[in-house]
Amino acid sequence: MKRSITTPRRARTRRAVPVHVQPRASSGVAQEFAQAVASWRQRSTRLGDGAVGRKGDNHIEQGTQIAYVLADVLGQTYYEHGLDFGCGWGRFMPIIAARCGHVWAADVFQDWLDRAVADVPHATDTLLTEPSLPLDDGSMTLIVDIMTLQSIDTAALRARYVSELLRVAAAGAQIISLYKCDSWLETQQVFHGLASVYTKYVTVDSEPAGYYLLTARTTSA
Ligand SMILES: C[S@@+](CC[C@H](N)C(=O)[O-])C[C@H]1O[C@@H](n2cnc3c(N)ncnc32)[C@H](O)[C@@H]1O
Repeated sequence: MKRSITTPRRARTRRAVPVHVQPRASSGVAQEFAQAVASWRQRSTRLGDGAVGRKGDNHIEQGTQIAYVLADVLGQTYYEHGLDFGCGWGRFMPIIAARCGHVWAADVFQDWLDRAVADVPHATDTLLTEPSLPLDDGSMTLIVDIMTLQSIDTAALRARYVSELLRVAAAGAQIISLYKCDSWLETQQVFHGLASVYTKYVTVDSEPAGYYLLTARTTSA
């Protein structure tokens, strides 16, 4: 089975999407956000690049496997505006960017964002400083969440991000969420109201890969 992933480059097109001005988050969710960032800062200090994987996982092997799954689900479809939500240091940016006219890399650490967009001329780094996405309503035609929603521990903060992802999604946008925890199976419910919500347990070479993959589309206008 072919496992190599090609990453064609597109022309440099730093088109800006107008920044959405979000009302300030309620203090509870804002506090949860600050705590999540602090805990992720400790985690990244302790684990370095391996922080993006699960404790005990080999993040390089994991990255190869997820890259294969992601490339497969994305296929060769082209998207105008893509969002890599919680992109980390950019493990999957080349795969996502190769299929997008422009891609937004969003995370809570500027140094990781710098790395994520470094080799992607048509990418914009988007530093999250509060529990909202500084992106326009209905602006994204592809939204990718690789293990980010699942790693947000509190229900209120997670719900806030889900509503933000749905707010920035364009009509008919493709949503892809890959996650490792059984407990995150409720993902299917949080994306209720979308068209074609489909969850499957991922296998690679007929072997269980340990991930769930959710695909969904927002309803067309
Ligand atoms: C499990 S890692 C996955 C990173 C990347 N998607 C990958 O697979 O390489 C989760 C990511 O979510 C980011 N993150 C943590 N808390 C967040 C929050 N409250 N809002 C947005 N992103 C957050 C972390 O910095 C981290 O990059």
